[in-house]
Amino acid sequence: MTATAQERAVRTVTLTIDGQTTSVPEGSTILEACNTVGIDTPTLCYLETLTPVNACRVCVVELEGSRVLVPACARKVEPGMVVHTDSERVRHSRKLVLEMLGSSVDMSYASDEVQGYFERYDAAPARFGEAADSMSAAEADHRGAGHHHATSDGMAATVAQPVKIDNELYVRDYSRCILCYKCVEACGVDAQNTFAISVAGRGFDARISTELALPLPDSACVYCGNCIGVCPTGALMFRSEYDLRQANDWHEEQQTVTDTICPYCGIGCTLQLHVQDNSIVKVTSPLDHDVTSGHLCIKGRFGFQFVQNREDGGRAERNGAGG
Ligand code: SF4
Ligand code: SF4
Ligand code: FES
Repeated sequence: MTATAQERAVRTVTLTIDGQTTSVPEGSTILEACNTVGIDTPTLCYLETLTPVNACRVCVVELEGSRVLVPACARKVEPGMVVHTDSERVRHSRKLVLEMLGSSVDMSYASDEVQGYFERYDAAPARFGEAADSMSAAEADHRGAGHHHATSDGMAATVAQPVKIDNELYVRDYSRCILCYKCVEACGVDAQNTFAISVAGRGFDARISTELALPLPDSACVYCGNCIGVCPTGALMFRSEYDLRQANDWHEEQQTVTDTICPYCGIGCTLQLHVQDNSIVKVTSPLDHDVTSGHLCIKGRFGFQFVQNREDGGRAERNGAGG
């Protein structure tokens, strides 16, 4: 018998997670099922507004009958599943993922929640040794498959490289990139459909790149900033935030966030203005906003200089965001 759309919509799946039985709508992920029983699952590459890519594997859980651990963020629930989220095997796997990321990537600008994962899983990235020296920009942009070699002297290989500052709106600091793919998805089919950035290289040498590693002004980038909006580690950052951080003048705890409506067109996207010392320092939009899903265009994201009289103002206007 074929189920009607209405019947399919109300079908639920019952499974067991850490000894608790729960029923969730068919099509839900294990991560969503975990949320229903109050189990907090760590995630890095997952975002509710993007298609899961299973890139980081920090969310893995043990599934009875499955040889391998499965990613909770992407694996759909099935009737009768028995899931373990805090077994020795799961904790060990999550710890290793965090240690490998933490030893090779600068995660100091990641959220408090992400920083907390390290303590929760007793991850100690420093045990892989001191960080190796930074690569040059040319080396970082053109590494080929098979280029990577183990470092000598017991130092930890890293993705450290110089910050890319090639425009007035945002900077790219790939020393902080965990290759979560969120920016690629936001620039691609999940939001912007511009495809200005993608993953180049293989293995440890994989990195986010524009076409032919061009500077942003010469690439297909339209400066919507949607990639910045989803980046979890500060690898992509407003130029205004970067400059303030460089001057030791970034004080998030003193900032206010005010909702307003973008004045540039009739769609009326909700903007969240982050204000410090009476100046707008960045603009975001709520992830759960039904018009934007957190995404904006260049005008809403960067065209805010006209509301304030700053000596260093005019960046957005110079890049065409001013109207
Ligand atoms: S600013 Fe927009 S167009 Fe440019 S790389 Fe980021 S998402 Fe793509
Ligand atoms: S730049 Fe940010 S969003 Fe893009 S892959 Fe790296 S960490 Fe993820
Ligand atoms: S959060 Fe599930 S694989 Fe990254």
